[in-house]
Amino acid sequence: MDGQFSACDNSDLVGLVPSAVQQTAVVVEQEEMARDTFRLRLECPQIARQILPGQFFMLRPDDGSDPLLGRPFALYDIYTDESGRPAGIDFGYVVIGKLTALMADWKPKQEVQIWGPLGNGFPEPGDGHLMMVAGGIGQTPFLAVAREALALRQYGEPTRNLSERPSRLSLLYGVRSKEYVAGLKDFQSDGLEIQLSTDDGSEGHHGFVTELLARSLDNPADRPDKIFCCGPEPMMKAVGELAESHNVPCWLSLETPMACGFGICFSCVTKVKDDDGQWDYRRTCVEGPVFASHRLEL
Ligand SMILES: Cc1cc2nc3c(=O)[nH]c(=O)nc-3n(C[C@H](O)[C@H](O)[C@H](O)COP(=O)(O)OP(=O)(O)OC[C@H]3O[C@@H](n4cnc5c(N)ncnc54)[C@H](O)[C@@H]3O)c2cc1C
Ligand code: FES
Repeated sequence: MDGQFSACDNSDLVGLVPSAVQQTAVVVEQEEMARDTFRLRLECPQIARQILPGQFFMLRPDDGSDPLLGRPFALYDIYTDESGRPAGIDFGYVVIGKLTALMADWKPKQEVQIWGPLGNGFPEPGDGHLMMVAGGIGQTPFLAVAREALALRQYGEPTRNLSERPSRLSLLYGVRSKEYVAGLKDFQSDGLEIQLSTDDGSEGHHGFVTELLARSLDNPADRPDKIFCCGPEPMMKAVGELAESHNVPCWLSLETPMACGFGICFSCVTKVKDDDGQWDYRRTCVEGPVFASHRLEL
């Protein structure tokens, strides 16, 4: 079944990213998580065995040519079979356009094309206080980050053993309104502190998630040692600026639109500052999607 890719066969090109595979995956289940927001489970053991928190994969329908190009989605988490072996992946998505509208109708047993794992993923969390800051669907990469940091799950092949674990782990999660809060029950774990904000005040802090971050940065008892962030670009820009002004290292996971996902089309370039201070363009799909915020011009 793998390699059958009639409308858009990327099987040779996927070889450009050594660990990536292209295969036919099978839809296992679909759950509505929040307004316009779904969790989709795909059976794809090979990718599930390898993928690391913060990495992503590309997805497209198995049949037809519309849309022709795959779309990128981040790992939410892997799931395992009865013997505890990785069997597939869960991811969360918001319906915004052509493919995501089709995906909302995908039913169990449907076959889809997937290639991955792709991208660099988040760095290891280290010790100290790791604060994850999420906006909207940007919360999805943090479930696997949190579960790995809390020693609830391991990822990668060979299995990654974290050299250090955070002494404190927190998630600041902001959405427009309470009907968009997605997956909160999945995140609820001993050892993970969660603060919620809504723009309209319908749940949690009334205001932007960046206000929660500013409050933590200003309070020595809550100040993070490291920030991981994913969300809409203006929010990530604000988080990067706050982190820099408080001298806290920060990594941003970019959601740049992508056409190929494995480095050949250059549709995903972003401006990145090199070690020598010079600006250059980097492909988000292979050199990201996670970048240290001080290297980016958002
Ligand atoms: C590394 C990475 C990980 C991602 N992870 C997730 C995830 O876990 N869950 C999720 O819901 N989405 C995620 N995204 C965004 C996701 O890829 C887009 O929502 C998806 O491509 C939309 O496809 P579509 O065919 O439905 O929309 P299209 O028909 O392609 O586009 C509809 C409209 O949305 C705009 N658009 C397309 N892509 C983006 C984007 N990335 N950001 C802002 N606007 C965009 C288009 O310009 C267009 O106006 C991720 C993106 C990247 C790069
Ligand atoms: S998406 Fe093609 S080079 Fe990055």
